[in-house]
Amino acid sequence: MPQTPLPPPLHDALVQILGPSGVLTNPADTEAFCVDWRALYHGRCAAVLRPANTAECAQAVALCHAHNVPMVPQGGNTSMVGGATPDSSGLAVVISTTRMNQIHSIDHADLTMTVDAGVTLKAAQDAASAQGLLLPLSISSEGSADIGGILATNAGGNNTVRYGNARELALGLEAVLPDGSVLDLMRKLRKDNTGYALRQLLVGSEGTLGLITQAVIQLQPAPRSRETALCAVENPQGALNLFAAFRKQDPSAIHAFEFMSGTSMALVNSLIDGASLPLEAPAPAYVLVELASPRADDSLRSLMEDILGSALEDGLVTDAVLAESESQRQSLWMIREEHAEAQKRAGASVKNDVSVPLAAIPEFIADATKACEALIPGIRVAPFGHIGDGNIHFNLVQPEGGDPAAFLAQDHAMMDTVAAIVRKLGGSFSAEHGVGQLKTYMMPSWRGGAELQTMRQIKAAIDPQNLMNPGKVLPPA
Ligand code: MLT
Ligand code: ZN
Repeated sequence: MPQTPLPPPLHDALVQILGPSGVLTNPADTEAFCVDWRALYHGRCAAVLRPANTAECAQAVALCHAHNVPMVPQGGNTSMVGGATPDSSGLAVVISTTRMNQIHSIDHADLTMTVDAGVTLKAAQDAASAQGLLLPLSISSEGSADIGGILATNAGGNNTVRYGNARELALGLEAVLPDGSVLDLMRKLRKDNTGYALRQLLVGSEGTLGLITQAVIQLQPAPRSRETALCAVENPQGALNLFAAFRKQDPSAIHAFEFMSGTSMALVNSLIDGASLPLEAPAPAYVLVELASPRADDSLRSLMEDILGSALEDGLVTDAVLAESESQRQSLWMIREEHAEAQKRAGASVKNDVSVPLAAIPEFIADATKACEALIPGIRVAPFGHIGDGNIHFNLVQPEGGDPAAFLAQDHAMMDTVAAIVRKLGGSFSAEHGVGQLKTYMMPSWRGGAELQTMRQIKAAIDPQNLMNPGKVLPPA
């Protein structure tokens, strides 16, 4: 039996539209949709709806709207901020995009892909790559995260430094609005200056304004040469100096520039099977740098060797390894991409997905580390992230052997301590993970006044009954 049953006429009408396998009500089937990846939120729902296409989705949303049923859009369920988890009332339905999973076309003239929301990012990347193209967005959760989710949350990731966030890749979009009407913005135009950019309003709205059902994604020519290196550096300033050295030579060659602290790297090495540091000895900090070019010559190799050669001579880099094959490249990336998983295995953690101006990063990491160590003795400060974008995942892992619940009980104290330093340095409290339900409480003090008021007016205009992903992004009025 469902925990809070849908009204029978609504249930029957939904089954009529979506088929029996499109409406899950058995708690054994719905449970996984009610818990976030980090297991911070354990919600309940009346049902999980699984439309197979836009028409089914629109009809299901119209019905829920007519019955005043809250709706929680969900893609791959990889939110770091509880953005796709229903509350504990059990009144909402989760609308899962997983069955909307067609790649419709790849256009080689415009370099675009037309794709359903439920296609995983990895599947979309692979489809582009099979045709000699690149979908230039990469995140650690790309095997599960889907196109709808990455657009709804304006995901960033490893290639933002070169190609921008998901927002920059969304040429066209289709979404079902809270009343079930379909907003068709599936144009693939580089230039279209005709009124409010509604697709950009949907991107990053975290499912609070509508449910994204399809998109036109901007692709790029696939790189035909790549060079990837893992470097040991003394500290965050060293990582930034190295970034400046690459940027000065050829900013367009930088495909990724990732920072990893020694603490964070040690967790990966000890907790992830098959991970091992391919350097002589552990270092205080590391950089993973990848250069890429559509040219097939060996100019990237010389660029990488020249810059790293000088950096090693100057002592800016203390050790480095260059990938000599695709499998070595994958191993280097595996070390980076397993950071979130390693921290999950290390116990409870508090994520501060912050950004500050590049020059302020060393001061930020130093001050925030000091403040957090003073707040919770034994805390493991394990920052890493997209340093080329000024985005540091200033993640805090519970003291070894400590009580996870006691640690998490202090999450606001830790988040507020870090946020105060971020604010002083002119940064943002959420660089790429969004607000979800975890960080709504920060909105009034960070985005208050006219900014929050305008957001509330937009929400009220599009979703006057507050049915689409209620409780996310905007704090209660
Ligand atoms: C990543 O870049 O791996 C995720 O955004 C990070 C996180 O765990 O905070
Ligand atoms: Zn990240």
